[in-house]
Amino acid sequence: MYAVEMENVNVYIGNRHILKNISLKIPYNSVYVIMGPSGSGKTTILRVINRLIDVNRDARVEGTVKVLGFDALKKDPYELRRYIGMVFQTPNPFPHMTIYDNVAIAAKINGVAKNRKDLDAVVRWALEKAMLWDEVKDRLYDYPHQLSGGQKQRLCLARALAMKPKLLLLDEPTANIDPVNARKLEEAIVSLKDEITVIMVTHYPHQAARVADYVTIVYDGRIVEQGPANQIFLRPTTELAQKLLRGEI
Ligand SMILES: Nc1ncnc2c1ncn2[C@@H]1O[C@H](COP(=O)(O)OP(=O)(O)OP(=O)(O)O)[C@@H](O)[C@H]1O
Ligand SMILES: [Mg+2]
Repeated sequence: MYAVEMENVNVYIGNRHILKNISLKIPYNSVYVIMGPSGSGKTTILRVINRLIDVNRDARVEGTVKVLGFDALKKDPYELRRYIGMVFQTPNPFPHMTIYDNVAIAAKINGVAKNRKDLDAVVRWALEKAMLWDEVKDRLYDYPHQLSGGQKQRLCLARALAMKPKLLLLDEPTANIDPVNARKLEEAIVSLKDEITVIMVTHYPHQAARVADYVTIVYDGRIVEQGPANQIFLRPTTELAQKLLRGEI
């Protein structure tokens, strides 16, 4: 059983062929990293998994997509997304909610906590998992604009975790934050995989090497190389993968 299985997935938006025969298997409790140059289709893969692709009315998805055992293309997308957390490239906490409420809302919506005591516990758990608790425990009722960019992004991770997802999608989560915060986020990600399967898009080979169990490399909508991380890093077979891992593309 895999957390995600795609078989011969093709995505068209309008008359553009965006993903081409994508097949992949993502084992439970692993960190699976997707790399590839800009415009290669990385975000689109994530958007197929959580059905955000549906937002594009002219998008068409063909093939088989299994997510957490569900037939993801047939499942009600709102139901599917209850199991899937997502963190985007730019930190996007809810500006009108306190730090506490930013995290609590996710738990409330998903019915994770039933009373204030449970809610306090989930908020603390999520902030600890996101390695932010120590920095905000005395200011839970401040607003996110009082946080640094890296703290905001860890708040977004905590919000995603508070819904107790089975799958976490991270789309270049450290692209807009400093290296110290990036390392904290990486540590958090690695510590999560006992409980959650993580799929992360990154442009940084060193980051991928630190966190990945498996790596797939996408180019122009196709997977050009995939496998266990050490195999991809030590013996990349395609020239493209070699260039990408040297940071040349
Ligand atoms: N709504 C859309 N309409 C038309 N084309 C789109 C749409 N969304 C994405 N694309 C195209 O699909 C391709 C893949 O886009 P995607 O966002 O998945 O790339 P990416 O690998 O995530 O790139 P980046 O590293 O820049 O985030 C690109 O060529 C993009 O222009
Ligand atoms: Mg992208």
